[in-house]
Amino acid sequence: MKKIIVTGCNGQLGRAINLELKGYSDIEFVNTDVEELDITNIDKVMELAREVKPYAIINCAAHTGVDACEDEWDKAYRINAIGPRNLSISATETGAKMVHISTDYVFDGKAQKPYTEFDKPDPQGAYGMTKLAGENMVRDFADRYFILRTAWLYGDGKNFVKTMLRISETNDTVSVVKDQVGSPTSTKELAAAIKHLLFTENYGLFHATCEGSCSWAQFAEEIFRLAGKKTVVRPITSEEFAAKAPRPAYSILENYMLKLTTDYMFADWHDALVAYMRELA
Ligand SMILES: NC(=O)c1ccc[n+]([C@@H]2O[C@H](COP(=O)([O-])OP(=O)(O)OC[C@H]3O[C@@H](n4cnc5c(N)ncnc54)[C@H](OP(=O)(O)O)[C@@H]3O)[C@@H](O)[C@H]2O)c1
Repeated sequence: MKKIIVTGCNGQLGRAINLELKGYSDIEFVNTDVEELDITNIDKVMELAREVKPYAIINCAAHTGVDACEDEWDKAYRINAIGPRNLSISATETGAKMVHISTDYVFDGKAQKPYTEFDKPDPQGAYGMTKLAGENMVRDFADRYFILRTAWLYGDGKNFVKTMLRISETNDTVSVVKDQVGSPTSTKELAAAIKHLLFTENYGLFHATCEGSCSWAQFAEEIFRLAGKKTVVRPITSEEFAAKAPRPAYSILENYMLKLTTDYMFADWHDALVAYMRELA
């Protein structure tokens, strides 16, 4: 029996991982969220890992509030960096594989072509900086790890697609940023990629986003079109939107390591969105 500890199991990705690996008779999940296992507590993390002796630890826990991180540096470093450190130490001690999720926000967004795993990160805000620190902790402390950098994630939880649909219930127009481009990625697609890697020895850092790209404004337009909503998108600049945290203007990741080492392909962002909205309906 392969036991898998999932942290942050109530989050979007935690739920998708459970669905993706459901029904495998040789897999047993030990699902935890902050109440069962606060990943910032090294003693609790070690205690659980020693008791479970997991095949793998999949870290879906994070401080994902991009703007909140700017006011909560300590909390963000604890959850996004110390947490993965603790889990990696416990994975190494118990012989488990470590799966960790990172983000496109580790880049500065000034590129003109998709970022690969070989490009140099240069995060611009607290979220990106603490997530990059988390990647480094995993590299330093885990023997066998998969780090997957993803972007613009949506699934079962609070996300951009649901926010747009909610706004469309009461608004005829919505202002959405037009000068940030990226690759919307469903948690279902990301969970499938994790499953693909998990039982291999193909360790390392992977970009893991749906194929293709769009701006947030185009993403919103497509959501409304698929939902049959009349809501009009008013494209605005990031400056006009004035979010607290800086966000990369160019956020497109190439899944280069997956292409170099496997024949695994993510779905196109548009196809993944169609599948997601069908499920929502
Ligand atoms: N969402 C995106 O657009 C996006 C983009 C790129 C990368 N990512 C990365 O993808 C991963 C999954 O993201 P997601 O959207 O599924 O996140 P999410 O929905 O925000 O879920 C994160 C979960 O972690 C829990 N958590 C917070 N602090 C914890 C702690 N100290 N110990 C244990 N659990 C804790 C949260 O609980 P509370 O809700 O109670 O805080 C929540 O259940 C994260 O690593 C994230 O950085 C996300």
